[in-house]
Amino acid sequence: MGDITEPRIPDTGIAPADILEHMRDMRANDADWHSGQTWSLVYHAGDEHAAFLKEAHGTFFSENALNPIAFPSLRRFETEVVRMTATMLNGDNNVAGTMTSGGSESILMAVKTYRDQARQLHPEIRRPEMVLPVTAHAAFLKAGHYFGVEPVLVRLADDLRVDVSAMRAEVGPNTILLVGSAPNYPHGIIDPIEEIGAIAHRNDLGFHVDACLGGFLLPWVEQLGHPIPPFDFRVPGVTSMSADVHKYGFAAKGASTILYRDVSLRRYQFHVSTGWPGGIYASPSMAGTRPGGTIAAAWAALKRIGRDGYLEMAQGIMETTARLLDGINRIPGLRILGKPPASVFAFASDEVDIYAVGDALDGRGWHMDRQIKPASLHLMITPVHAGLEDRFLDDLAAAVEEVRANPETSQGGQAALYGMMTTLPDQGLVDEIVLQMLDNLYEL
Ligand SMILES: Cc1ncc(COP(=O)(O)O)c(C=O)c1O
Repeated sequence: MGDITEPRIPDTGIAPADILEHMRDMRANDADWHSGQTWSLVYHAGDEHAAFLKEAHGTFFSENALNPIAFPSLRRFETEVVRMTATMLNGDNNVAGTMTSGGSESILMAVKTYRDQARQLHPEIRRPEMVLPVTAHAAFLKAGHYFGVEPVLVRLADDLRVDVSAMRAEVGPNTILLVGSAPNYPHGIIDPIEEIGAIAHRNDLGFHVDACLGGFLLPWVEQLGHPIPPFDFRVPGVTSMSADVHKYGFAAKGASTILYRDVSLRRYQFHVSTGWPGGIYASPSMAGTRPGGTIAAAWAALKRIGRDGYLEMAQGIMETTARLLDGINRIPGLRILGKPPASVFAFASDEVDIYAVGDALDGRGWHMDRQIKPASLHLMITPVHAGLEDRFLDDLAAAVEEVRANPETSQGGQAALYGMMTTLPDQGLVDEIVLQMLDNLYEL
């Protein structure tokens, strides 16, 4: 059996059954998302749906959307996913886009698009800037770094939406793009999209709404009658949006959409190399080879779930969220950050070390996500969490009391690590520590 555990290509191939068994065994220490004890990373709409997605994915396992002429089926799936998403987000027939491998790639593409547009229309801008809330997803910082667009971060107002007047004040001659989230990842709050749209409109700027998280949830939550402020193409200043099918669209991982208000803007996303000896190379996004399975499964998910299915899931998600929010509000010492309108939220404490609470919950089998500024724990609700509310709330209340009774627990576990990282004055040093952690993680 040594061959299967050693990090080398075996001299002789191993039997499929042995390999698969070994792979299943290797999952022993993985996060237990299926039982609902994980609050991020996986969006699961039931085993039957997953089996269907795998079949749809497997049907196009080998196909490559790098060349849509060779695979007209994939071209059709992709354009239909884009059209269905645009319509869901109240875009008209002029809205154009592409699929990408995920939210980060959609955001990368948006930033590259506005940079290239600015290069053409405003060559006088040498150091392009994007103005964005501090809560905008880190993928924007990554994109800024990759594409040479300086991020100008804007503080939040008391309600944890971006402070619009501060945003307005940051708009200057180098600004090429404004960003808002619907909702943002850290607090699940929707930025004031209409007001940002007005600034964008007045200054003739690009405005990207990151609906990676909410794109496939907020439309249904709104249709259920919950108060959701306009966040999509209905808002005149919005020029592009990202929405992930692999999150609340419940598709297979590797599927997002990037949408532009019109086709002329999308043009800046594309790359062509016509002088290459390998032939005329045309590529819509970051990737070269684009797996057919993820595109096919995204299309299949939308068709399978349908409006009724999404509404039903949104209803369940909102009910679970309401029970959790209510329960957390009742636990002395805890407070929800802001007023999250949908299924994503964070909670903090002014009385106990919330990271130590996280550790105590980890000890009870929950997989908790930590945040900073302020120190908080983060939850994203999906259908797997239905029915677990009481268990989680009981464990949470017990964890808070445990930490209150033993405050020294914050000197161990992740609490100590997070506590140390968030209090170090030197950001460069923190970066270095995390880089070292990454290096270590990818060692065998
Ligand atoms: C608001 C928001 N934008 C972008 C992303 C990035 O998406 P991905 O992890 O698919 O790259 C996320 C991920 O959670 C998100 O919540």
